[in-house]
Amino acid sequence: MAKIAVLGYGTVGSGVVEILDANAESISKKAGQPIEVKSVLDLRDFPGDPIQEKIVHDIDLIINDDEIDVVVEVMGEPAFTFVKRALEAGKSVCTSNKALVAAHGAELLAMAKERSLNFMFEASVGGGIPIIRPLNQALTADEITKITGIMNGTTNYILTKMSNDGSSYEEVLKEAQALGYAERNPEADVEGYDACRKIAILTSLADGRTVNFEEITTEGITKISNEDFAYARKLNSVIKLLATSYRKDGKVYAITAPFLIDTTHPLYNVNGVLNGIYVNGNMVGDVMFFGAGAGKLPTASAVVGDIIDCVKHKGTNVCVIWDDEKLELAPTRDEVRSFFVRVKGNASDTAMVKEQFGDVEIITVDGLDNEFGFITDKMTEEAFDKAAANVDMISRIRIDDTKLQ
Ligand code: HSE
Repeated sequence: MAKIAVLGYGTVGSGVVEILDANAESISKKAGQPIEVKSVLDLRDFPGDPIQEKIVHDIDLIINDDEIDVVVEVMGEPAFTFVKRALEAGKSVCTSNKALVAAHGAELLAMAKERSLNFMFEASVGGGIPIIRPLNQALTADEITKITGIMNGTTNYILTKMSNDGSSYEEVLKEAQALGYAERNPEADVEGYDACRKIAILTSLADGRTVNFEEITTEGITKISNEDFAYARKLNSVIKLLATSYRKDGKVYAITAPFLIDTTHPLYNVNGVLNGIYVNGNMVGDVMFFGAGAGKLPTASAVVGDIIDCVKHKGTNVCVIWDDEKLELAPTRDEVRSFFVRVKGNASDTAMVKEQFGDVEIITVDGLDNEFGFITDKMTEEAFDKAAANVDMISRIRIDDTKLQ
């Protein structure tokens, strides 16, 4: 019998307990022994809930309990301190906490390795979608040349609704909050910080060195308007918040931002709260991961998969190559891509635009007077910014032209 503790009986924590109970028999077979939740740390009590007899309010009761082999951190702050203490006490740790992993992944992995323990975090990116383990274990023959994903369900829900229904950003955000998809303070999702941390984790795993998530150019979706979607429809495209990194000429680039993608893009049909992640390896070619990127049971499913792996590997570190050497990202200003641009003026007033951007095709949308749009040729971000400073720009959205090869 393996005994575990769960830190936090919130959405994911209660999902972990539920799955371990519902699938106890098959989990026991897969882990080689039954898994029992011995303690659950929470500030609250749950009178009438069978979990109540396992609730503890003091982390020391878990840290000092030699019977507990695996600690599951699904509580948020003060995660780092508790996770470090658990590892120091000889317990493996599983977490869904992307902020913790993005900020301290290399350090916690090293601590686990030194002690022949494991630090696992499958649920930190893509919720229930397997992506950490595939990068660590399945795609190791390859050099990963590109990762691009829709890694945030909240923003994908908002953008999908705006695209399909023509509702405004503010309207859809309110609806998403009412449905429980968006937090009351939605900043981490809508400003792209959540997706930024996720691409930092995946890029660190793909490269083996640490990406500082604070150095990834990050733009959210708060400025995306119905007018932008009107142009997108005319271009047979949608707007998606992509978190992406790629290797080119020995340099690694990374960005999180809204992108215009057309029907041929592998992520075009990833809608609503779903996530999709495209990976290109230099040997395997293209692989795609798709599914529920958030939610109680999908996220808990990934956490329980990690718990089983920890139980199976008791006393053995499952090696993950991610060390604390810093990976210097190449500057975004050197990235080359096309841009969709909206400028003030009318279609007969395009001389300045053509002077700056060449003979671009002008796009107009019925009902949007005194403005027009166009798509630039491929150019660096730096060259784009210089040219854009000379036109009366309303907005610009980057274009991602990833294609399945
Ligand atoms: N807030 C995140 C999302 C939860 O919307 O995708 C999963 O990380």
